[in-house]
Amino acid sequence: MSIVEKFMTMEYGPAPEDPREALAWLDRHNRRFGHFINGTWQAPAAGTYFDTADPSTGEKLATVAQGSATDVDSAVKAARGALPAWQSLTPHARARYLYALARQVQKHSRWLAVLETLDNGKPIRESRDIDIPLVARHFYHHAGWAQLLEQEFPGYTACGVVGQIIPWNFPLLMLAWKIAPALATGNTVVLKPAEFTPLTALAFAQICEEAGLPAGVVNIVTGDGSTGEALVKHSDVDKIAFTGSTEVGRAIRKVTAQSHKKLSLELGGKSPFIIFEDADLDSAVEGLVDGIWFNQGQVCCAGSRLLMQESIAEKLIGKIQDRMNTLRIGPPLDKAIDIGAIVARVQLERIQRLVDQGVAEGATCWQPSIPLPTRGLYFPPTLLSNVHPTSVVAQQEIFGPVLAAMTFRTPREAVELANNTVYGLAACVWSESINVSLHVAAQLKAGVVWVNCTNLFDAACGFGGYRESGFGREGGREGLLEYLEPMWFKQAPPLHTKPLAIDQPLEQPADLAASLIDRTIKLYIGGKQARPDSGYSMAVHGADGRLLGEVPLGNRKDIRNAVEAARKAEGWGKATAHNRAQVLYYVAENLSQRREEIAARLSAVVGKKQAEAEVSLGIERIFSYAAWADKYDGAVHNPPFRNVALAMKEPIGTVGVVCPTDAPLLGFLSLVMPAIATGNTAIAIPSEKYPLITGDLYQVFETSDLPDGVVNIITGRATELMKTLAEHDGIDAIWCFTDEASAAAVKTLSVGNLKQVFTNEGRVIDWFDVKQGEGRWFLDHTVQVKNIWVPYGE
Ligand code: NAI
Repeated sequence: MSIVEKFMTMEYGPAPEDPREALAWLDRHNRRFGHFINGTWQAPAAGTYFDTADPSTGEKLATVAQGSATDVDSAVKAARGALPAWQSLTPHARARYLYALARQVQKHSRWLAVLETLDNGKPIRESRDIDIPLVARHFYHHAGWAQLLEQEFPGYTACGVVGQIIPWNFPLLMLAWKIAPALATGNTVVLKPAEFTPLTALAFAQICEEAGLPAGVVNIVTGDGSTGEALVKHSDVDKIAFTGSTEVGRAIRKVTAQSHKKLSLELGGKSPFIIFEDADLDSAVEGLVDGIWFNQGQVCCAGSRLLMQESIAEKLIGKIQDRMNTLRIGPPLDKAIDIGAIVARVQLERIQRLVDQGVAEGATCWQPSIPLPTRGLYFPPTLLSNVHPTSVVAQQEIFGPVLAAMTFRTPREAVELANNTVYGLAACVWSESINVSLHVAAQLKAGVVWVNCTNLFDAACGFGGYRESGFGREGGREGLLEYLEPMWFKQAPPLHTKPLAIDQPLEQPADLAASLIDRTIKLYIGGKQARPDSGYSMAVHGADGRLLGEVPLGNRKDIRNAVEAARKAEGWGKATAHNRAQVLYYVAENLSQRREEIAARLSAVVGKKQAEAEVSLGIERIFSYAAWADKYDGAVHNPPFRNVALAMKEPIGTVGVVCPTDAPLLGFLSLVMPAIATGNTAIAIPSEKYPLITGDLYQVFETSDLPDGVVNIITGRATELMKTLAEHDGIDAIWCFTDEASAAAVKTLSVGNLKQVFTNEGRVIDWFDVKQGEGRWFLDHTVQVKNIWVPYGE
């Protein structure tokens, strides 16, 4: 027998990791855990417990507390109690705690890795080499942010008490992604781990004790969905951060809509894995193994949709099948195992059901003939080919080791297929051509794009989705912003309790009579003045009750037309930032030229002083955003791999803007200008107090080279129009800066496609104060960051 033959026939011996340490830790707790609240272990108020088991054997590991609303309340009270002292620490003192947590994680890394594998079923190779090192890295990185917080985020403060709910696929890693940025920014936390995998969160509670973290800063309450729901509903929680299914994310969004809780959602995905004919196919196949069979495919960013260029499809499928035949599935504590156990029976059944459905819809199912363990929850690596793009297995998240393969002919078709999903979490592009890769990466609607690599994560690089994969980022600068608020905004009083700086008694300008000729204006859609579909108009009165003019009564159809026009204007987002800046400067210039007549008309509603201030500050505001347009850049991250990650700030798309009532011109410009400066298109509903401003605005826009459809203005009954905007699937984000009830309404009504919502939460914003009315806070809401990972070196 030759050496080659010997190598080919050599069998792997079992190489099991010793679980004794982890089991001994469970034994020391008598295999029974309460909640970790206010620095102590507490039995559940209702006395209810449930079991957590090893999915690879079915054996019970421990019993953990089922959290009730009472337990959640105790935890929130503890977090609230701990908040003032935690916030009053110096950045350095907080940094030292995070550093201590990182050190403890590192010290206990093996124990944590084994415990994770026991509870979740993932291969020890992954928990040991990926999950736990990334957990430590996250705490180190955020210890650094804690240290730099005041320098890097001046004027910002913590949200307060944060409720965090995490899934079972990366239990400790998701905990780290949530807790590290929350603590670094000065929040206190109540975290609920998933019911299938609570053990490493409880181990982390012990690590908090060991690190000497003050009592109440981190509280862990275990339980199922009802415990999570109690946390989401608790009235004294300032922010909810959730990772899990889109369905539950939607439910959470609905519940938090009626509150002022800040929300970030990291939801499901159906990420495309695109392989071009010029790719290094062997590397791509290795990437694919990682893309879909990592963690048994129970990964939100799993490359579950394989898109192959037609010319190489057959060859590629052969290579994939050959590789699948060598995958080893078995006891996850065995160090030579590629694929471990599925987390729970219900998940296993769900995977089987979806595969059956895919086959019923015409897919061809192929599985390698590799042995499966006789006990435990296992699902073989599975390849579904001939999948139709509309098939359930091409559209729904399977969350299992199942790859759905399709073909494409041209890069354009690849992009179309890739984006043909409601999700937008991640994507992979494999091609030896840097031009093709980056060209395609730029067009993909996804929060992360890996070029010639897969599943790379780092604390410095934000992770999160587009569209129904959620909003908000974890990691990086943008991740910290999810846990911070501008100090002034947090302290802003509710609307109408504080007069604006500019408020003063109304006075009539001398030449008012001349400007009060009855005006009738039109809607502004696609760069054209348009009559309303309804054929009706409504009267607008001045402060003294005089009729000032009439504005069209816009309706659903007009909004639909505006959405269509805005979509057609998407090229605006691809124009150069310099180009956008030039157009904005031109808008400012044209507004300047009409300064007096616009102020004179506006003064009939808001008084002369405010009208003049609105116009002159409005011109300045446009100048500011013209200035920002080519300076609000992304970043290049240097993660600890041979990669760069290009953090691109991309426009969200079409933004619906419900403008503030009290400052008809300045309020409009303060919202619409930042939105379009970064490349979004806008559909605005102007102030109900003075919608006639629309006429002045469109005359300015028409003379300013603003491409048709970039800004559309619909007048009418704001509440009705807002409802249509919020419900419309063609709108990607909605901003509402009127009253508290409207803020709640837009959040509730936009649950359908999980729009990003930005509101004043019914608080006063003084548009005349530059610190409040303009700047990064607004710009940060106009973009979503896409991280494009590009390897370098041979
Ligand atoms: P899930 O979304 O129900 O669970 C995630 C977390 O949310 C758990 O801690 C759970 O207890 C909690 N939760 C459940 N209902 C809640 C509610 N109404 N309010 C607050 N918290 C609640 O996910 P599940 O049922 O474990 O898995 C179902 C499917 O979801 C999977 O097959 C997969 O497709 C998807 N999923 C996606 C994840 C991702 O990272 N994108 C993670 C986990 C699941």
